[in-house]
Amino acid sequence: MNTTHRHSGTRRSRWALAPLAVLATALLTGCQQAQQGLSIGDMSSAFNREIAWMSIWAVALSIIIFLGVSFALFYTVQKFREDKHDAPPAQFHGNNKLEVWLVAVPVVIVIFLSVLTVRSMAILNPTPDQATKIDVLAKQFWWNFEYPTIKADAGGNVANGNEMLMPTKQPVALTVTSGDVIHGFWAPNIGGQRAAMPAVKKTWQVDTDRAGVYQGNCSQLCGASHANMRYKVVALEQARYDATLAAMKAYRAPEPAAGSPEALGYQLFMQGKPETKAASCAGCHRIQGTPAAGVVGPDLSFFGTRRTLGAGMWEGEKAREMLIPWLKHAPHVKPGALMPTYDGSEYRANGKLQKGGVLTDEEINALAAYLRSLKLPEEADYWRDVPVIGASGNGGTQ
Ligand code: CUA
Repeated sequence: MNTTHRHSGTRRSRWALAPLAVLATALLTGCQQAQQGLSIGDMSSAFNREIAWMSIWAVALSIIIFLGVSFALFYTVQKFREDKHDAPPAQFHGNNKLEVWLVAVPVVIVIFLSVLTVRSMAILNPTPDQATKIDVLAKQFWWNFEYPTIKADAGGNVANGNEMLMPTKQPVALTVTSGDVIHGFWAPNIGGQRAAMPAVKKTWQVDTDRAGVYQGNCSQLCGASHANMRYKVVALEQARYDATLAAMKAYRAPEPAAGSPEALGYQLFMQGKPETKAASCAGCHRIQGTPAAGVVGPDLSFFGTRRTLGAGMWEGEKAREMLIPWLKHAPHVKPGALMPTYDGSEYRANGKLQKGGVLTDEEINALAAYLRSLKLPEEADYWRDVPVIGASGNGGTQ
């Protein structure tokens, strides 16, 4: 497939799907939460400012060309109307001067546009060594954000599922890849869009001057829950970002008190319940500071601090409410989710009908209690007092 075609296809599908995604979200959430918009014209990002600067020149030049060609066309049509004698039109073959002009003008235009493009690419593409590095992994239908330079004291790299933290006022280098099909990382407020392709790692940089929570979506049709493959970008001022990442680095999942619901949740998370065929969660998920080191599903280390659930499908209070149905039967509330059911119901994963394991309501509640206990210290809550950019509706719960 030709790259240009694929690219324009992506762009078209993005525009075509945006209203659908909004409508789907409105229907699914009953409009009770704030909608958070995407803006391709957010000038708080140096990336977006550069693109806007280049576009102004390109559009201005296009207008000049359009006017020039239109003038030439109408002038010629008027001046050289067919005359009554049907004489052959004047020939300019051999008119070297005219031919040189006809070649030179388009060449100059193309060179000018090329210089503009190459200039912007040279500014936007190189990744400075000091840029904050984040590895972005896209999978059906969620995101993982890993900080390859921040080794957790408890082992492994600091990572967070579906909520990406970045510092303001400096370039952030994203290395984007996919674990299955092609997805699209698209958080336009912080700059541009990149395809996330399996077995390919592409690095590019984003940035923003303004602290805030930004919306991110998947921009490449990737399956049943393409519209439910969202994420949040939380941009924090440098000092707060550093403090938050330091807290994440030092974090170890709390050890539940013996006999508490959290303790039962911990045990189920780590071991599952083999007698009712309930698979352990640890096989697929990582929790920093515990033996759980699965990489099949999103990192849950800071689950209690996260405000979204199901890759941005629900937010705030709604996300809290949905945790129980989610644990019981994720594929029933999110089409195509690969997490097994835990209420014994059937679900389809990878084209095959499967039967989930069984946990009692008490056990599901215990799992939920354990997950909610996975909290960063209060001062490292990255949602606190951060403005939600582009929010509309009733203000939601953020
Ligand atoms: Cu992933 Cu659409």
